[in-house]
Amino acid sequence: VSQLQEAQNTDNTLYKPALFGSVAAQLQEVERSLTQDLPAACGPLADIVRFIMLNGGKRLRPALTLLSGCLTSPSLSLSPKHYILAQLTELIHTASLVHDDLLDEADSRRGQESCHMKWGSKVAVIMGDFLFAQASVRLGELNNTEIVKIYAKVLADLCTGEVVQAQHRFNLETLTWQAYLNKSVSKTASLFAAATMSAAILNEQPAEIVQALFLYGQNLGIAFQIVDDLLDFTSTTEALGKPALGDLAQGVFTAPVLYALEDTLVSVGLKELIYTRFTEKETLLKAKELISSAGVLAKTHELANTYVLKAIQCLAPFEDNPFKKDLLLLGDYVLARTK
Ligand code: FPP
Ligand code: MG
Repeated sequence: VSQLQEAQNTDNTLYKPALFGSVAAQLQEVERSLTQDLPAACGPLADIVRFIMLNGGKRLRPALTLLSGCLTSPSLSLSPKHYILAQLTELIHTASLVHDDLLDEADSRRGQESCHMKWGSKVAVIMGDFLFAQASVRLGELNNTEIVKIYAKVLADLCTGEVVQAQHRFNLETLTWQAYLNKSVSKTASLFAAATMSAAILNEQPAEIVQALFLYGQNLGIAFQIVDDLLDFTSTTEALGKPALGDLAQGVFTAPVLYALEDTLVSVGLKELIYTRFTEKETLLKAKELISSAGVLAKTHELANTYVLKAIQCLAPFEDNPFKKDLLLLGDYVLARTK
């Protein structure tokens, strides 16, 4: 069984070392610090932090940091700062999801109640901020201004992507491929790219190596977001562990909608449905069917594939080793994931 098949065969809601075999032990250490050390150090907030962190995330972003750190280390090993970087990267991601679920009114995340459903909206706002603060503490521990600047920009990008998305809901006039891709870079690819390039910076790598890993992370992140947008149409709430069809229902128009609107046979009918703002569930389901029938789902997958290919090309300067193999394999995983 290949690593990829093995990863897919296991329960996707659990963290799976098989996917990142070359850094499995190191990732276990990051997992332990996130789910045990962090809650234990959070005093009265321990229970809430544990609830948020023990949520079976894929830990893709810290794995990217660890793999990129090993790939660019002359000794093929990690420094303590790489572990801090991996941890803070996951903290930022988790914090943004706590806020995102509140904004999206999503009642579940990774198969469990979302933070605001369990603890209330006020707690969710502050807990998201608290996790960002925890990430900032760790960022300071790196003593590296270049990385501080990169992650400060990531936080600004996350907010920008989220606000732009909210402002453009149900707006077909501002919907363009460029706007969609820019938003995907801000919301998702920016953190992926920070995770990969900063690991190389910690290893004091030359600018072209840092740039190669920046572009690898950015392209992989765009592909990841496109597949995420595709799964909103093709998967179910049960399989995803979060509400399916949520983007469409909220007027967040992603790659499948963009392709469908380019199809003259579909676009008129689809626009009419969109103008209802899906106040009736029936209209939403009709729109889903229309989008799914136009062959756009296959096109969307193909689009994600082009970004994975770009990401893979960025790894050309690196010698073959198990870390590069896992980074290449991640491209397959991003395309093959079903939840
Ligand atoms: C998931 O999007 C959300 C993000 C990738 C980023 C969300 C960012 C924020 C809420 C801003 C963060 C705030 C600060 C202070 C930095 P999605 O809704 O498309 O994905 P989903 O389907 O998994 O919910
Ligand atoms: Mg959401």
